[in-house]
Amino acid sequence: MARLLKPTDENLRFLREFLLSGGVAALPTETVYGLAANALNPKACQRVFDIKNRPSIDPLICHVPGFSGIETYCDTNSAAEILSDAFWPGPLTIVLKKKPIIPDIVTAGLDSVAVRCPSHPDFRRLIVDCPFPIAAPSANPFSYISPTRADHVNANLGEKIEYILDGGPCSLGVESTIIDARDPGRPKVLRYGALPLEDIENALDCRIDAPAPTSKSVQIAPGSLPKHYSPRTPVELRTEPVSEKELQESDSKVAFLLLRKPNHGTASNFHWLSETGNLDEIARQLYAKLREVDTEEYEKIVAEEAQELGLGQAINDRLRRASHL
Ligand code: TXA
Ligand code: MG
Repeated sequence: MARLLKPTDENLRFLREFLLSGGVAALPTETVYGLAANALNPKACQRVFDIKNRPSIDPLICHVPGFSGIETYCDTNSAAEILSDAFWPGPLTIVLKKKPIIPDIVTAGLDSVAVRCPSHPDFRRLIVDCPFPIAAPSANPFSYISPTRADHVNANLGEKIEYILDGGPCSLGVESTIIDARDPGRPKVLRYGALPLEDIENALDCRIDAPAPTSKSVQIAPGSLPKHYSPRTPVELRTEPVSEKELQESDSKVAFLLLRKPNHGTASNFHWLSETGNLDEIARQLYAKLREVDTEEYEKIVAEEAQELGLGQAINDRLRRASHL
């Protein structure tokens, strides 16, 4: 098992040195835990791919302490400036044209790089004095459910890494929204995420088209595969709420992953993501509940889609990928 480190000044200093010298460690962000390496060290980044069993065509996000200084790594423009002003630190990743200092392994050979400035207080304390950007994909085996707690990381990758910085449960619970801002006049969303698209449209004062259908988006957002974030148990997705009758008559081998607590009694196979159907709470609980249900040996998981608005878009995107065969 990996060692869980508390976010003391001493441990943060140690981890900074560890990463600088080529180590790989799991770090908390406000979205999900990341598997971190020095982005300027191709060998360390290769270890991240190996540990996750991640295909080399799936590029990594580079985490930075802020907008100031990112011109070392990429070309900036007016859209990137507006977006970072409005939403950094926070759950927004911006894709920009890369500069040669970023190794090809990080960007899977693309001429663009994804940059993000997380708001998690412990991550910020660590990165503020870092002389390098931190490459960090979610700290899960490729295509499994992303981790939102230190013990999730330990359960899947504990045998392969030495350290996990324990920053408590992630406050948002789904990954960052990714915007391709290379053309400032026509930004595109590559992945729905914890920052609702409406907020981004308001900041930029323009409409942003929905991402391309998942089958095509492989070329647009490499790594954005239709099957992802998936439990081992098959997931059946419902666009309508599960009826009270179906719940009451259900087989105990089927788990129900509901958006809110049922009104008329519960059973051990009913699981809910929120008491009241609150989207923030649903997003925060989604991955932890999926993991919990996945360990209970059900034959299948019946899950409800959220309203396709705000955070609901990211929640549904993850549920659709989790249910993809
Ligand atoms: O919230 C998050 O973004 C978390 C935390 C740890 O920061 N990270 C995360 O990383 O979700 P990951 O590796 O699980 O997802 C990164 C995705 C890639 O799969 C790819 O779709 C997209 O970001 N990406 C990265 N670089 C890109 C690029 N240059 N062009 C287009 N898409 C890119
Ligand atoms: Mg991931």
